[in-house]
Amino acid sequence: MQDSETPVPMDAGPVVDTPIGRAAQLAVETLGRTGEGLPRPAQTRVIVVANQKGGVGKTTTTVNLAASLAFHGNRVLVVDLDPQGNASTALGIDHHAEVPSIYDVLVEGKPLADVVQPVVEVEGLFCVPATIDLAGAEIELVSLVARESRLQRAIEAYEQPLDYVLIDCPPSLGLLTVNALVAGREVLIPIQCEYYALEGLGQLLRNVELVRAHLNPHLHVSTILLTMYDARTRLAAQVAEEVRSHFSKEVLRTAIPRSVRISEAPSYGQTVLTYDPGSSGALSYLEAARELALRAAAPAGPAEPQGQEYGSGVQAGPAHEQSTMEGNR
Ligand SMILES: Nc1ncnc2c1ncn2[C@@H]1O[C@H](COP(=O)(O)OP(=O)(O)O)[C@@H](O)[C@H]1O
Ligand SMILES: [Mg+2]
Repeated sequence: MQDSETPVPMDAGPVVDTPIGRAAQLAVETLGRTGEGLPRPAQTRVIVVANQKGGVGKTTTTVNLAASLAFHGNRVLVVDLDPQGNASTALGIDHHAEVPSIYDVLVEGKPLADVVQPVVEVEGLFCVPATIDLAGAEIELVSLVARESRLQRAIEAYEQPLDYVLIDCPPSLGLLTVNALVAGREVLIPIQCEYYALEGLGQLLRNVELVRAHLNPHLHVSTILLTMYDARTRLAAQVAEEVRSHFSKEVLRTAIPRSVRISEAPSYGQTVLTYDPGSSGALSYLEAARELALRAAAPAGPAEPQGQEYGSGVQAGPAHEQSTMEGNR
């Protein structure tokens, strides 16, 4: 890390020669003046964005972190693993029923390279779309060989160099999410700063633990991101404090504010980075991406399971559940 008075330009990534691309680039550079250069990972980081609750910001986080990392000069692949195809929509990728998609990869065994599409406007960003076919995959996968590791095999066989793969999970803990957990090393859990925020978290952590024990020894929860944070409400602050007190190592310092611009962007087939590069939402995702990149670069401390109970205060849900968080590596 740099610690000098002179601003160090960060690796601002490739210049995209469109008005939106230039504006986004400017936002990256503006932010860069306050910080240090971003390291690229030594090997591909496969990050599973999971939370079986719907509407907590998984898709929003996947596409905006992915775009942020790409603007920082990384090569990033988003795998849309939700039959709704929201990540594909937000990245402006066509995903009507005939489009070759992640379904073909998981069920038909098609190579990932045959279904990857570049994201217009963001150099270095790619997407594997999901179509509605994927809704049937949970059931179709059951009878297939190596049903839990089909995504992992596809990603391993993909030959193009990548710095990050971000997998956007559906709101369930079925075979699609298990495929993601087997394929990844890191789990990123977005948590919405609202009542019941931690409900179900224990179940998710137990699933991560099960997959780690039986299918993927590398898997760990590396990152928690607070989303839709509304600084005006005491509840949001209480939830944030609660989450931070139990998962101090995993929670990013940056919380994503509730922002109209973030919620508007997908209807234009865009991330907030290109839709409104100067907005607080765009800047917060850029900052979160920077933290994510820098954290992995920092020497890992020993994993210390925290073992505390959470949910004692504002959340009604999991007051009895224990943290099984493994900690950073
Ligand atoms: N920071 C935010 N500010 C405002 N709206 C948001 C924010 N993050 C997500 N949303 C909106 O909340 C809804 C749910 O987010 P989404 O990312 O689709 O959640 P999930 O993928 O977990 O179901 C979407 O309509 C999205 O646009
Ligand atoms: Mg989603």
